[in-house]
Amino acid sequence: MSDRKIIVSPSILAADYGKLAEEITKVVNAGAEYVHIDVMDGHFVPNISIGVPVVQSIRKVTSAVFDCHLMISNPFDYIDAFVKAGADLISFHVESNSDIKETIKKITSADKKAALVVKPGTPVDVVFPYLRDISMVLIMTVEPGFGGQGFMSDMLPKITALKEEIERQCLNVDIQVDGGVDEKTSDLCKKAGANVLVAGSYIFKSDDVNEAIKILKS
Ligand code: DX5
Ligand code: ZN
Repeated sequence: MSDRKIIVSPSILAADYGKLAEEITKVVNAGAEYVHIDVMDGHFVPNISIGVPVVQSIRKVTSAVFDCHLMISNPFDYIDAFVKAGADLISFHVESNSDIKETIKKITSADKKAALVVKPGTPVDVVFPYLRDISMVLIMTVEPGFGGQGFMSDMLPKITALKEEIERQCLNVDIQVDGGVDEKTSDLCKKAGANVLVAGSYIFKSDDVNEAIKILKS
């Protein structure tokens, strides 16, 4: 089990976009430290979600950490815009078309935190050479693109391997999981070494958001 504090990042993909401000306030008041914002371009993933103007609007609602998960083909080209809109932490995929080193540099030189994301089919050791330069690695536990999918438990060994490598290099890098995280699967993730939990459906479709977040943190 990870000895680090568990951070919860509710994915607003599962929220009601018609009352986004209210939905965000609800999860932040329930103890969520982060707000997970899924940005999809209909090209890197077969779905379109939200972009820069929405991030800019909801920035006025909360001072919680904006955890922007960019599922877009060319993240490098959009870093400035997301920084300006209020992103605190920017995650981009190693499978995207952007140069990994240059994109990390662009994020960190704007004083924002950078994270690398691996899709289920990508081996986790792809991120090992960059661990020194980033704050977090996001291990996808579903194919990116849609909320409400089933958790892929065969991703758990990637979490363990990453945790071991982070410890081997004596680094302070967070491990985030995203996709199908609920009260049962979150436990498996925490045991494997993850400390930042993204949950969309489990939190926003719950009757008791306070309880759902409390369970994830426990
Ligand atoms: C999927 C997104 C996830 C998604 C998770 O591409 O990256 O953040 O919203 O949703 P749930 O928790 O419903 O699987
Ligand atoms: Zn996500």
